[in-house]
Amino acid sequence: MLITRPSHCKRILKSLVGHFDQGHIGPVKPTTVYDAGSVQEAFRFMQQGLHIGKLVISLRGPDGSLKINTELVTSIRKLKLDESASYLLAGGLGGLGRSVARYLVEHGARHIVFLSRSAGSGPDDQEFVVELESLGCKVQLVQGSVNNRDDVVRAVSASQNLKGILQASMVLRDENFAQMKIEDWRTTIQPKVEGTWNLHHATLEAKIDLDFFICFSSMSGTTGLAGQSNYACANTFLDAFAQYRQSLGLPATSIDLGAVRDAGYVARDEALLKRMKVTGSKGVTELEVLEAVSMSILSKPVIKPEPAKNTEEAEFVDQSNLVLGLLSEIPLSSAESRALWKNDRRMAVYHNSSTDASDGSGSGGDVLKAFLSNAKKDASVLKANESVQLLAVEIGRKLFSFLLKSEDELDTSVSLSSLGLDSLVGVEMRSWWRQTFGFDITVLEMLGMGTLEGLGKHASQGMLKLIDSESG
Ligand SMILES: NC(=O)c1ccc[n+]([C@@H]2O[C@H](COP(=O)([O-])OP(=O)(O)OC[C@H]3O[C@@H](n4cnc5c(N)ncnc54)[C@H](OP(=O)(O)O)[C@@H]3O)[C@@H](O)[C@H]2O)c1
Repeated sequence: MLITRPSHCKRILKSLVGHFDQGHIGPVKPTTVYDAGSVQEAFRFMQQGLHIGKLVISLRGPDGSLKINTELVTSIRKLKLDESASYLLAGGLGGLGRSVARYLVEHGARHIVFLSRSAGSGPDDQEFVVELESLGCKVQLVQGSVNNRDDVVRAVSASQNLKGILQASMVLRDENFAQMKIEDWRTTIQPKVEGTWNLHHATLEAKIDLDFFICFSSMSGTTGLAGQSNYACANTFLDAFAQYRQSLGLPATSIDLGAVRDAGYVARDEALLKRMKVTGSKGVTELEVLEAVSMSILSKPVIKPEPAKNTEEAEFVDQSNLVLGLLSEIPLSSAESRALWKNDRRMAVYHNSSTDASDGSGSGGDVLKAFLSNAKKDASVLKANESVQLLAVEIGRKLFSFLLKSEDELDTSVSLSSLGLDSLVGVEMRSWWRQTFGFDITVLEMLGMGTLEGLGKHASQGMLKLIDSESG
């Protein structure tokens, strides 16, 4: 229908969004979450036709780690760079640039050119050069500004057999838009807008055939960020630039990064890190940045799209933009959530896979939360009989919430089957269990524990083991 009757589809989607906005429709509940690695199990369960609500495949765990068989993925797509080529890193002597440089060298790069205003005069620039050289890489530092066309041409000429560019230059001048001076606007815009344009034209004019052109952009360009209108705008340009280059059939990716926790300017700034924590933002790890870089380099060459006959009917798929870091530690439905993008319609999928208590999963009530946080500090509390009893009651409360039963009937010594635990509810319980206690239990194991007391004991023993293994 999308192909043969696009305007009809558009009308249906518009009316659907209208109903959504007015609160007439919402996500289907309850949700049962499966790890991406257990997708077969999810299909098998769906096949039985017994489930209520929706089955969701989750790609990432609560800690942000991928729940897919990454070994298989990486072994097929291993990054191997051209030893005879040069790679130009504009702004590459900053925190993330250095991290990418090391990564490129580890994957075969043998000639890296850095362009930045203070290149070579930074306190640890020489030390860094020695580090890369000791790994077998020739390093050239070009002092200059990416904003300046001549400096860029000089850096490009210094890069023999140039095959890849990373544009990581950045200057911040944060201010409320109403108070922002034009100099602040320009200072932040220039390295990303004019700088990127200079890199693009210098390579085109020199007829250089690049394998990749990666721009480090920011999530602020996608979601907006108070006090950073200039920065957000500059990053939106990068996203559009990557689309433009791809439309010319040239390689380009913009990677929209959320705050990187362990490298780069956010990691150097205590106050920023604190602000990130308060808003519940999960942030991005250095490793994820490097994975995104690797993915961008390995991605297939772009195929120039056919020009759309009618913009109304044009299909839009943006293959030039990667967004990293749209993850919140606080469920979006919680009143405490301060994620800037929680009301953004484009992020609706996050509400669908929300794992707060209201949709039947999540990490349980306040008593349980407080108990688990204590147990993490002092594991010996898990050995006490009262703790086993507390866990039994809390597991029972969760079970009863799934069964829509009153807690008055909760008896921890009665058999689980007579309480109503069956394989269907067991699947819901299993997902909650994993998120709450941090280890897995199969539905069969759960049913085999006999009573809530048995489950309480299993939870306390499992957590003890987990804490032991983490500390040892
Ligand atoms: N770190 C994060 O959490 C984060 C989050 C979102 C996006 N990003 C993006 O990732 C990129 C790198 O960030 P970072 O954390 O590595 O920042 P950084 O440590 O501050 O590095 C930025 C680098 O840009 C260089 N630079 C500034 N103006 C320049 C110019 N006109 N010409 C050439 N180089 C210039 C600076 O060197 P000189 O002063 O010597 O010129 C500096 O080394 C940025 O584009 C940023 O927008 C980072």
